[in-house]
Amino acid sequence: MPVVCVASPKGGVGKTTLTASIGVALHRIGWRVLAIDFDHQNALRLHFELPAEPVPGIADDMDGDPDWTERVIETPTGVYLLPFGDASAAGSMQAQAHVAQHPGWLRNRLEVFFGYPDLVIIIDMPPGPSVYGLELDALADLHVAALLADAPSLALLPKLRQGDYLLEVPAERPAAIGYVLNQVEPQRPLCRDVVALSQDMLGDDLYGMVHRDEAVAEAAACQLTVLDYAPDSVASRDIMAVAERVHLGLAPSWGEGRG
Ligand SMILES: Nc1ncnc2c1ncn2[C@@H]1O[C@H](COP(=O)(O)OP(=O)(O)OP(=O)(O)O)[C@@H](O)[C@H]1O
Ligand SMILES: [Mg+2]
Repeated sequence: MPVVCVASPKGGVGKTTLTASIGVALHRIGWRVLAIDFDHQNALRLHFELPAEPVPGIADDMDGDPDWTERVIETPTGVYLLPFGDASAAGSMQAQAHVAQHPGWLRNRLEVFFGYPDLVIIIDMPPGPSVYGLELDALADLHVAALLADAPSLALLPKLRQGDYLLEVPAERPAAIGYVLNQVEPQRPLCRDVVALSQDMLGDDLYGMVHRDEAVAEAAACQLTVLDYAPDSVASRDIMAVAERVHLGLAPSWGEGRG
């Protein structure tokens, strides 16, 4: 029962887009997939063609030790979704404080899912470090690090490679980090240079690249992932390739529970 965290030190790089679409792709590969939103924007749900009315999510009523299985939604894609919820800014701060003050609480909430064989949990992380990361980083089997193919992202790579990214990595279970360059535009010379330098620096840890593709933005406007909106688009093929790579990394834990 692997856990994949989609994260980035940067905002707006495609974390939510990748979480939703890699989730759908992993489902097509054969995994049962639970996508969980840990970002106050509650935007993951917007990729799954769901009704607009508010539904409770992970940030609601933390004091009541809720059973998160009751908040899981089966989406039309077949991916299960646990949304962040409609917490106000104050509610979101309270949720963070609750998690900070109760070490282990988050793990206990998630434990109910750990017994399901063939279930992969894919998590949309908020940008940058977060209190949720304190526990989720330690639970993750794989981190998908989303970056843009631009100079600021490239400048961050050495720091990321030194491990200045994950907060709590248990020495006995070091998680892999797979990098994904998003919004790649090969027609731009600077972008090509960034890609080449990233390939040199990351080698096999570069899990894939996703082209900048208008179909991705159009899909989001239709509340779909690009895999459902434009299955033959360049971005869909890119995302399937990234998901295959993620699958290969996770396949050894297929069918395993977690103690
Ligand atoms: N490959 C792509 N091609 C074109 N547009 C893209 C691509 N990937 C993401 N986008 C667009 O970029 C914007 C940001 O994407 P997204 O919301 O997934 O980023 P994020 O990292 O989750 O942002 P935040 O840090 O705010 O949570 C969205 O409008 C999305 O549709
Ligand atoms: Mg996001």
